[in-house]
Amino acid sequence: MIIRKVGVCGCGLMGSGIAQVCATAGFDVVVLETEQKFLDKGFGGIERSLAKFAEKGNLTEPPEAVRRRIKGTTRAEDLADCDVVIEAIIENILEKKELYERLAGIVKRDAILASNTSSISVTELMTATQRPERFVGLHFFNPVPLMKLVEVVRTIATDPDVYEIAYEFAQKLGKVPVRASDKTGFIVNRLLVPYLLDAIRAYEEGVGSISDIDTSMKLGCGYPMGPFTLLDFVGLDTTYYITHVMFDEFKEPRFASPPLLKRMVLAGWMGRKSGKGFYDYANPEKPLPQDAALRGLTEEKAGVAAD
Ligand code: 3HC
Repeated sequence: MIIRKVGVCGCGLMGSGIAQVCATAGFDVVVLETEQKFLDKGFGGIERSLAKFAEKGNLTEPPEAVRRRIKGTTRAEDLADCDVVIEAIIENILEKKELYERLAGIVKRDAILASNTSSISVTELMTATQRPERFVGLHFFNPVPLMKLVEVVRTIATDPDVYEIAYEFAQKLGKVPVRASDKTGFIVNRLLVPYLLDAIRAYEEGVGSISDIDTSMKLGCGYPMGPFTLLDFVGLDTTYYITHVMFDEFKEPRFASPPLLKRMVLAGWMGRKSGKGFYDYANPEKPLPQDAALRGLTEEKAGVAAD
């Protein structure tokens, strides 16, 4: 099977990044969104990212040439001749299933369908595709243009040849694929989510302040970001959603959402994207830790760490 054209559903942070890496690798790409404004926003991000790569000499052709390989559409019919379609829409099982049901009647029979889901059962999504043997998980990481890993997820129904094609496709994108089976959270989130939730619990218990916990994990363990910076980066709503799916699957306390995470999501503090999370991003160059606000205290009463 020769892959020439890739369809991407969703032009948010993940979808636009996936479209960008596919086009950079030489594939023609069609991106499906529900409204033109979402395409415009995603394409703005792609152009900025390509400009950064070009500036550093990390593109083999002009950014405009890569950009020209990506077309946006709001009509699912435009995905009809794609060889691979990667879905990267909102992490909501009903919306994803509805999309796959629509795509089943549009996308050619021998195309491979994939989901970028981070936590939903690939097997359950598969049931809506009408082609279980040609369905895999392709889980990319944020920011997609920089992060090298792709988890390639198989279900019990995935055709082994299709799985190998998907694995090689991830390599052609310049990524490093790993093989994972369809267990909620796959490899990375299975290990990452309890760590992030433990950081929140440590903060709730007064082990250290937000910035001290972040600094500790950065400088003590060599992580590129501390847990709170990473939580804000991933999105607190996304993390909260993942905890529900993982707790539902495993029924283990380590996957349960700490009360503070729930309260922040209820308050609309989603992290970087909403301007507030564990840090305040009013000045994005210098995010301010939110210890005082999160403890419901004034700055003076909050102290540096937990009192
Ligand atoms: N496109 C192109 N270039 C970009 C970019 C993008 N989207 N984003 C950042 N860059 C560039 C920056 O301009 C910068 O270039 P410079 O060195 O010339 O200034 C360079 O990349 C490094 O960026 P920064 O200086 O902003 O910051 P860092 O050195 O910290 O690198 C990072 C950024 C790669 C994001 C790094 O902090 C990192 O690896 N963080 C951890 C990210 C992570 O863990 N992601 C996984 C999240 S979990 C997930 O996605 C799973 C999901 O299911 C929840």
